[in-house]
Amino acid sequence: MSDKATLNVEGKSYEFDVFTGSENEKCIDTQNLRAETGYITMDPGFGNTGSCYSSITYVDGAKGILRYRGYPIEELAEKAIFIETAYLVLYGELPNKEQLKSFSDRLKEHAPLHTNLEHHFSGFPKSAPPMAILSAMLNLISCFHPEVLEVPTTGEQFDRTASLLLSKVRTIAAFAYRMAAGKPINHPNPNLTYCGNFLHMMFSDPYQEYKVTPIIDKALNLFLILHADHEQNCSTSTVRVVGSSRANLFSSVAAGVCALWGPLHGGANAAVITMLEDIKKSGRPLTYYLEKAKDKDDPFRLMGFGHRVYKNFDPRSLILKKRVHDVLEALKVQDSLLDIALELEDATLSDDYFVSRNLYPNVDFYSGILLRAIGIPLNMYTVMFAIGRMPGWIANWKEMHDHNLRISRPRQIYTGKTTRHFIPMAER
Ligand code: ACO
Repeated sequence: MSDKATLNVEGKSYEFDVFTGSENEKCIDTQNLRAETGYITMDPGFGNTGSCYSSITYVDGAKGILRYRGYPIEELAEKAIFIETAYLVLYGELPNKEQLKSFSDRLKEHAPLHTNLEHHFSGFPKSAPPMAILSAMLNLISCFHPEVLEVPTTGEQFDRTASLLLSKVRTIAAFAYRMAAGKPINHPNPNLTYCGNFLHMMFSDPYQEYKVTPIIDKALNLFLILHADHEQNCSTSTVRVVGSSRANLFSSVAAGVCALWGPLHGGANAAVITMLEDIKKSGRPLTYYLEKAKDKDDPFRLMGFGHRVYKNFDPRSLILKKRVHDVLEALKVQDSLLDIALELEDATLSDDYFVSRNLYPNVDFYSGILLRAIGIPLNMYTVMFAIGRMPGWIANWKEMHDHNLRISRPRQIYTGKTTRHFIPMAER
């Protein structure tokens, strides 16, 4: 097999290296294209552009495969807990018992926030979206831990910084919710698990301590595991782009939170629930919504449908669809939104518009129903996604540094006016 690709342009022939990844994915290395030919590639939205070589996560969109460090998502969802998955994504191997214990101890140590940082929460208006608070507070943490600004990507200081971030993101999220709800904050309890502690900080009240049930603990672990990484998606690419200027890890993930917020990315999990509620309230037939989604003059899209990479099925959605049933059954909860979601999925499967464009439910379609079942309020859904995605963001930021990547700086083709000369005000 040839290990070169040939490009013929303007009567000249150029050769470029071909690289094959460990799962037989292929690329043409065009790093020298502009220098050699004067041409650039044009790929708005980066549908065909590889930005890095990575050994963290593998996705095969045609076959519906997702693996973290080689481990299938189905196995991790069934057998792992979130913090061992986070360890795997960060360090490349599943932790042994001692490694998991010391990782868990570090997470416990870093759970509290600096008291002065706590005061900042009261400065936000009650209506502040928790994603805005999360991004602002993640950036702010670095002011209280100046040592993290110069974080190395290996060794004890990296371990410390990664655990600090993984742990504090959960405390910030819970505090943001409590403050906005006008409720007193709950400090972290070192005797609880990662998920249990989060639920305690969210839901304990001075008169009643929240009791974490195994069903809910497991459901939250599952949600976070399914979101732990997803290679070069919009928010992870943002973290890499920001980090490529050698911005610190905290600013980089704060930017990742902002990218995640949009409804075409992580914000879709809340948008799905809003859409399903609207369908329920309106009493209109599903065909009304399908037609709206197909109408190119209408900005409405079926939220939770479609994916840039998955063109068959999103394995996370299949896992969630099944587990959501189990969780609702175990909690003895009936949710009419699940029935509407199932009907909607069915309707799209026999509709040529969706079938021909490979539009299937993505991770966000059923995840909101799981979060509802465990009592998470709607304005926190995308924050939950951010907590889950933190290991992936940190691992990608680290890998980008380890590979010493150049600053991200795409090119463009200019289509504006050619040179013209300044016109004095009186002549305009
Ligand atoms: N509803 C209706 N039509 C859709 C939808 C949808 N949800 N998604 C894509 N399409 C149509 C597009 O209009 C386009 O049609 P056309 O070929 O006739 O012009 C075709 O399908 C291809 O869509 P693109 O927008 O080019 O696909 P892209 O890969 O750029 O976008 C995205 C992917 C953003 C996920 C898109 O499918 C979408 O907007 N989905 C709804 C929002 C959503 O669920 N986002 C979460 C994604 S998962 C995640 O980020 C965690």
